[in-house]
Amino acid sequence: MAYLEIVGLGKRFGGADVLHDVDLSLEQGQILSLIGPSGEGKTTFLRCLNFLETPDRGIIRLNGETLFDADRPKGRQAHRQAFGLVFQAFHLFPQYTVLENVTLAPTLAKKGSKAALQQKAMDLIAKVGLTDKANAYPNTLSGGQQQRAAIARALAMEPDVLCFDEPTSALDPLLTKEVLNVIRLLKDEGRTMIVVTHEMAFAREASDRVAFLYGGTVAELGTPQEVFGAPRTEALRRFLRQ
Ligand SMILES: Nc1ncnc2c1ncn2[C@@H]1O[C@H](COP(=O)(O)OP(=O)(O)O)[C@@H](O)[C@H]1O
Ligand SMILES: [Mg+2]
Repeated sequence: MAYLEIVGLGKRFGGADVLHDVDLSLEQGQILSLIGPSGEGKTTFLRCLNFLETPDRGIIRLNGETLFDADRPKGRQAHRQAFGLVFQAFHLFPQYTVLENVTLAPTLAKKGSKAALQQKAMDLIAKVGLTDKANAYPNTLSGGQQQRAAIARALAMEPDVLCFDEPTSALDPLLTKEVLNVIRLLKDEGRTMIVVTHEMAFAREASDRVAFLYGGTVAELGTPQEVFGAPRTEALRRFLRQ
């Protein structure tokens, strides 16, 4: 059994099936890149995993434990903390410093003493290369620095699986590189991650699995070599040509 298993996930908005029959699995320590055209449900999928949306159908299993089963209402939203999400537009709290942004959620969740949480936050801030910005406010940081702060903030909640929603699409190429380097560093640490990205070079080189979301479902899934080297559907061939 895979570490992360998603079986038959579905989500409707109004009358429309945005996601249907989404099946995915991922081993611990792997990176899955999720690619596909706009409007195909990539963000909705990450929001379902993070329980920012409730799926209408399907099962989410992590490490053998059922986190969500649409047919078993009792299990709903039991494990919000299993997944973390880094947003496209950073979403840092502007009134708080980098350090305060990172300590806020674990403090509210009573994850440890103030001193321990501060120390842990400073370690994470160092990991993303922002030690000299720990007491800076978000509006004084570059986009790349803000996104790295957002990554430290997500890590502070100790998610089992860290999700990224187009983490570099608001950044220029140089800042994109520094954020992707942080993601590579986290991979070297053995973190399990799902990355929605339009950076095909990154998806090809850094991910273990690539999923092509099309028509509201996983239209192709495989290694980067399989998905980029031998696309099976016309939709993926067309997408890759763009
Ligand atoms: N809260 C919502 N209410 C209604 N429709 C939504 C909502 N969120 C997303 N959608 C619709 O779901 C579809 C998929 O959106 P999204 O998940 O943002 O796609 P992607 O991230 O792949 O661009 C779009 O048609 C979008 O308009
Ligand atoms: Mg999106």
